[in-house]
Amino acid sequence: MTGAYGTYPDSMCIAVSTGGGDAPGLNAVIRAVVLGGLNRGWEVLGIRRGFGGLLGDSPVVSLDREDVRGLTNVGGTILGTTNRGNPFRWPVPQADGTWTEADRSDELVDKARLLGIRAVIAVGGDGTLRISADLAEKGLPMVAVPKTIDNDVGGTWTTFGFDTAVSTATDAMDKIESTAESHERVMVVEVMGRYAGWIALHAGLAGSAHAILIPEIPFDLDKVCDKVRQREALGRKFSVIIVAEGAVPKGGSAVLKAGAVVGGTERLGGVSNLVAEYVQEHTGKETRTVTLGHLQRGGRPTTFDRLLALRFGAAAVRAVEQGHLNHMVAFDPPNVTTVPLKEAVSQAHVVPLDCDQIRTARELGIAMGD
Ligand code: F6P
Repeated sequence: MTGAYGTYPDSMCIAVSTGGGDAPGLNAVIRAVVLGGLNRGWEVLGIRRGFGGLLGDSPVVSLDREDVRGLTNVGGTILGTTNRGNPFRWPVPQADGTWTEADRSDELVDKARLLGIRAVIAVGGDGTLRISADLAEKGLPMVAVPKTIDNDVGGTWTTFGFDTAVSTATDAMDKIESTAESHERVMVVEVMGRYAGWIALHAGLAGSAHAILIPEIPFDLDKVCDKVRQREALGRKFSVIIVAEGAVPKGGSAVLKAGAVVGGTERLGGVSNLVAEYVQEHTGKETRTVTLGHLQRGGRPTTFDRLLALRFGAAAVRAVEQGHLNHMVAFDPPNVTTVPLKEAVSQAHVVPLDCDQIRTARELGIAMGD
């Protein structure tokens, strides 16, 4: 990477950025965008730290082949990322240690024009996609690439990062089961996913959970205790419960980390303690919790995620070439297509209550907390 940009003022120039929480596969997208652009004779710029690079946060860099060599299987993002980088609500530190917000979106659009950027390929989750839709409204040509381990982006069948997160969580479930059985305990495993239960549902099924609690089905802890007692009566003296961080007790609300609001978004976490305390108290079983946390966002992408990320990156460059601006690339198996950005951000992709995975879980006798 070099700090130089605009070295080919007459040529086509695109820029790529990665925003929001990281997800395995981001680097593969960057590689496909860079190679796809360079192979068309275009210049490709990298915007560092979300959109921050266009606001003087860090330099905008020119990306070449060397920069993306060997990146397909590398976790994280070489461009860096942030979930505090909304140009419409840019955080401004005050002398007294507090923060206010400023709208710096016009400055960002002007800077992109000054650099000769003809389209920005923004890779991110729902927050980044909304920002991209708003920047597109301001006249900055955008193509978005959906990214999230949570699988909660609308308009696409799935995103890269999700399969890797599920694999990591399933691997953890396998390990938890043996210690649960040895100690005849109940183990409660908390996974990410925000307000969508995809990770819990998939890892719970694949990892043989005895109860799966997801945000889409408010849970009744007495039902979970019943399941633990039924197993006990059958001589199965241990149970494993997987709970999505956004799962809610019936009539209650999601458990948030105290005082933790990032860029206007609350941070979830701690529901496993609520579940464990209740189960221990009402079943008499010794109960422990494990929160997988950011482990789920790290590491090498699975083969599925590598392929999807490369296909998304290539499709984003194709979208720019074909003039499908202000669209998001999407997976509509077996094809990668594009959908209007506005349509993609209009609704979140949560677990449908009548989906086959939930039906399968129920038919296997897994408690869903209802
Ligand atoms: O959206 C991805 C995600 O990992 C969520 O599953 C989780 O709630 C959140 O990001 C955690 O964000 P942070 O990186 O701010 O802790």
